[in-house]
Amino acid sequence: MIKEKKILVMLVAIAMLGSAILLSGCVEEKKENKIIVGTSADFPPFEYTDASGNIIGFDIELITTILENLNYTVEVKDISFISLIPSLQADKIDVIAAGMTINETREEEIDFSDPYYQADQSVLIKKGSGVEINASHDLENFTASIANLTIGAQTGTTGADWVQEHLINTNMMDEENLKLYEIYIDAVADLDIGTERLDAIVLDLDVAQAFAENENREVAYTIITGENYGFGVKEGNTALVEKINAELEKFIGSDDWTALINKYFE
Ligand code: ARG
Repeated sequence: MIKEKKILVMLVAIAMLGSAILLSGCVEEKKENKIIVGTSADFPPFEYTDASGNIIGFDIELITTILENLNYTVEVKDISFISLIPSLQADKIDVIAAGMTINETREEEIDFSDPYYQADQSVLIKKGSGVEINASHDLENFTASIANLTIGAQTGTTGADWVQEHLINTNMMDEENLKLYEIYIDAVADLDIGTERLDAIVLDLDVAQAFAENENREVAYTIITGENYGFGVKEGNTALVEKINAELEKFIGSDDWTALINKYFE
């Protein structure tokens, strides 16, 4: 009897040890399957934080769905926009999901997924601030009307590039009248204070519209730039890009896609 009990105890111990080894194997595997998504959560409705501090938004939900379909566990990290590409290159993050426009300069540094969203730039102002913009669709009249303004933009964005190219490089505007902000929240706060701080912000149209849901702000102009957003991965990580593209192709146009658009753009 006692002998049998001892054997039983030993068997149980062996079984427990075995499952512990199996479990630790699982944990290891999970770690390997984890993807860190970097974003700059100041860009509603693409990426922003809810009242409890969770990072949410169109990009976040889209990339999370895609990566989970590919059996990855996803962690989202909030990083300033300008640090996203260096973080990817330093393997601190695996994917960029930040409403990032695919362009030549960036394509020299990282690889992009296929485009998932089309965007233009715009000018956001404070209502009643007296800032007047020539909204005629003649680029020359329009640029002349904003050249004397103090304009804000996020560091390293295509909005900042647009001001640099069309206003500063053309000698229409003083370089010091372009104020660069690390996060949009700070630019919008300055806009809200008034023209003693900032007259206008040049930023992506959908995001300007989201900020203009506050009745004190308005979108004064759309600058057609025809940009495309893509997800960024480390240069040469072709395997991951191809997997993301295959999922994107399945997802775009599906019912879930429509639901996602309606959730964030209505
Ligand atoms: N589309 C613009 C760009 O690529 C702005 C992106 C800003 N994104 C953000 N999450 N703050 O430069």
